[in-house]
Amino acid sequence: MKTLIKNGTLITAFDTFQSDILIEDETIARIGLNLTIDSDQLIDASGKLILPGGVDPHVHLDLPMFGTVSSDDHYTGHKAAAFGGTTTAMDFVVLEKEDFQHSVDLWMRKAEKAAIDYSFHMNLTQFNEKIAKEIPSLMKMGIQTLKVFTAYNGRLRIDDGSIFKALQIAKGNGMLVMAHCENGDVIDTLVGQALAAGHTSPEWHALTRPAWGAVESTLRMAAMAEQADSPVYIVHMNAGGEVDMLKYARERGVQLMGETCPQYLFFTVEHLRRSDGSKWICSPPMRTEKDNARLWEGLSDGILQTIGTDHCPFYFDGTRPIVYEGSEIAIPGKELGRDDFTKIPNGLPGIQDRLPVLWTQGVATGKISANQFVELTSTNPAKIFGLYPRKGSLLVGADADLVIWDPQKIVKYGVAQSHQRTDYNLYEGWELKGYPEKVFLRGKMIVDGDQWLGKSGDGKFLKRSEGEVL
Ligand code: URP
Ligand code: ZN
Ligand code: ZN
Repeated sequence: MKTLIKNGTLITAFDTFQSDILIEDETIARIGLNLTIDSDQLIDASGKLILPGGVDPHVHLDLPMFGTVSSDDHYTGHKAAAFGGTTTAMDFVVLEKEDFQHSVDLWMRKAEKAAIDYSFHMNLTQFNEKIAKEIPSLMKMGIQTLKVFTAYNGRLRIDDGSIFKALQIAKGNGMLVMAHCENGDVIDTLVGQALAAGHTSPEWHALTRPAWGAVESTLRMAAMAEQADSPVYIVHMNAGGEVDMLKYARERGVQLMGETCPQYLFFTVEHLRRSDGSKWICSPPMRTEKDNARLWEGLSDGILQTIGTDHCPFYFDGTRPIVYEGSEIAIPGKELGRDDFTKIPNGLPGIQDRLPVLWTQGVATGKISANQFVELTSTNPAKIFGLYPRKGSLLVGADADLVIWDPQKIVKYGVAQSHQRTDYNLYEGWELKGYPEKVFLRGKMIVDGDQWLGKSGDGKFLKRSEGEVL
């Protein structure tokens, strides 16, 4: 099967140029001007941009938590991703008490319905001698990354000594540690005090998880990265001070990398004070406008390396079903914490929103260039997580994961345009200019305008090898 896309403008992390592009079966076969080749499908992309498919390094699909489950599974979440121009997503495996293999097998079964390509990170939420010995076996399974937490005491957190040992093991095996940075001890103290004082509303979620905890924990991870001589990737950076710590560490040669997410660029604690404030509850929480601005600076100045979503959706009101692909479905959500902010499921939707929202608010406003947009949302995640140049590039031989992007298309965005399986959208009513028109996964068109051509089971598990430290 040959598809020839003519007259588009290719945007990569490095360059912008006019070219035709030939897809043969699953890969990019040729790139060049005035290609005249017999093809099964000819697409005129005049006035359109061609981008490598988005790579989302941070999503949580079908994740059990807070007595419910994140409301997108590996089909619905992937379908939404595709409509937003993302063709690869990386999800986190919950470490079960048995072992890594058992935990990965469970996640592999969940992902049998995948509609885009995917890979896994392993949550390192327990640590002992047996686990330490087993960590290298993850590389053989194609899982190159471990996520550690400095918060969620008694649930997900392991102590600093164990994190340090994990860093040493990672270094010896070409693996990468990802860190969720907050101060679990301070959070637990503040939560206890808030509840004792009768504070139950959503804003207390943010007030009990202060930015200083994220900043201090980011510096702590930087110090450990340096002492173990092992790279660390800080997930969901949310506080301006974390950007300062990242800059400080990188200027001193520490192998520290940082990811932020769109929600931390646009929203603040004020959103949690609204009557529907629980929609914005995730961990770490929303901060201030100053933090938003410093994160944008970190992106434009090249201090931060990636933008992921931390897509972990819940319904605002999970007692009321929504219709998804013709069936009614209700999944318990934020209402579980109506009387107690600690019971509101942590997480929010964003896998579809990421590219269109960032294009309008980032590229069109001049905060980042179109090339930086591709670098932050596709190329760098592919490089760091061992998928480049197969993913994140427009190179001959790479997977033909492409987005034909219409920079002129105006969309009044919101839940009606979203395929995320939840009952709200954080960007409701936003006017977006620039939107995916056609999306290809390994040469197959899976989105054409508002038509879904993808299929459950078409997504492939990507075995990853050692990535780059950027
Ligand atoms: O609130 C969030 N982000 N839920 C997902 C888990 C995590 O820490 O990334
Ligand atoms: Zn996290
Ligand atoms: Zn997360």
